[in-house]
Amino acid sequence: MDKFIIKGPVKLKGKVTISGSKNAALPILFASLLIKDIVEIKNVPNLKDIDIAIKILIKLGVKIERKKSLIINAINILQCNPPSHLIKSIRASIWILSPLLKRTGKVNVSFPGGCSIGDRPIDLHINSLKILGANINVKKNYIKGYIKTNFKGNIICMKNISVGATITTIIAATLASNVTIIENAAKEPEIQDLANFLNTMGANIQGAGTNKIVIEGVKKLKGGVYTIISDRIETGTFLVAAAICKSKILCKNTNPNNLNIVLNKLKKTGAEIEIGKNWCSINMHGKRPKSVNIITGPYPNFPTDMQSQFALLNLISTGISTIKENIFKNRFMYVPELIRMGANIILKKNILKCKGIKSLSGSEVIATDLRASVSLVLAGCIASGITIINNISHIDRGYENIENKLSSLGANIKRIKY
Ligand code: EPZ
Repeated sequence: MDKFIIKGPVKLKGKVTISGSKNAALPILFASLLIKDIVEIKNVPNLKDIDIAIKILIKLGVKIERKKSLIINAINILQCNPPSHLIKSIRASIWILSPLLKRTGKVNVSFPGGCSIGDRPIDLHINSLKILGANINVKKNYIKGYIKTNFKGNIICMKNISVGATITTIIAATLASNVTIIENAAKEPEIQDLANFLNTMGANIQGAGTNKIVIEGVKKLKGGVYTIISDRIETGTFLVAAAICKSKILCKNTNPNNLNIVLNKLKKTGAEIEIGKNWCSINMHGKRPKSVNIITGPYPNFPTDMQSQFALLNLISTGISTIKENIFKNRFMYVPELIRMGANIILKKNILKCKGIKSLSGSEVIATDLRASVSLVLAGCIASGITIINNISHIDRGYENIENKLSSLGANIKRIKY
């Protein structure tokens, strides 16, 4: 149960290299189970969630070597019910259903885990698998299922937009017999990255990134090499770090086109934003940001994973603003912690009302989920005095090398193991 001790206020500024995307790497890792050949995956971030996904694959009999890149050999799958404690510790383990059913014909796993940011139902995943021909039985948080021969292509109209269920469906349809059409598909860049990965290995997936994806099942996939996209949420997080410090930060090794709405919102705070092919920068020219109203929604709308970071920005901006969270029911758990640091915010149902104040004060706070944790760390950097953040295991799930990256930008941050 590590904690961070942070001394503020500091001005975070300078250059930071963005890591590979957690939410692109995880689906691609599970999808690699479809490939009876050697696959090399580059730019995989070194994160706890990735380590757990690798452990799950190894328990299934997959051979994985981690050098600079990951070398994956899933030629032999030995079993179909990996240990529950691993499955329960990450949300991404839900993506084991499709490849396991395809490879072994059966599956017997517990429900996935994930941040406690609200209900994390799996009905859309299960519904897709059933439409593609799987027999699935869900009871007491266990998922048991089988397919007789192979997944059969079909038309799937998603009841509501789901990143996870779109990914489950793409993986199941890749080697299915005939064609699958997904209507009302999620359009996130991470879904496009999964489709690009599978197409590189011989799949036939068209339309990823739009709300209609057409997957023509192929007989088999071949091995190859693939590089994961950069993490757009990590990029946005460091851009917000500069905004709240009224300073300048350059994010290297990232694709600004995946962050348009976040960049436009930062421009509305008064930031000067510059972008290049694989970088973007923010310069506040020493000015305090203006507050901005946020409404989260499925891509290309404002990402829910940037919600807590913009709440922090609004807290120290000029003016009054609102943040409306439309994706998850319980994604404001950081609010009481920020109030402890002096924030002037009121939460009513899924709308947070912020009145900007000049500065926050250090305090002892508790991290509750991945994105809330990083917002508390940034709050500690700009607060006057000492901030102690307990339970920072959440942050290691999604931010590679966070204290070194922040220290190189000027943070005074120490990790205490206890
Ligand atoms: C993915 O979660 C990401 N996680 C989340 O990132 C991200 O916030 C979310 O997509 C954005 O939508 C990973 O990629 C590992 P959803 P996921 O299915 O797939 C409801 C982070 O911080 N729903 O798009 O779980 C669900 O309750 C994490 O990196 C159903 O009703 O999200 C939610 O309200 C947090 N039934 C909405 O859909 C289902 O079967 C969107 O969920 C599935 C989802």
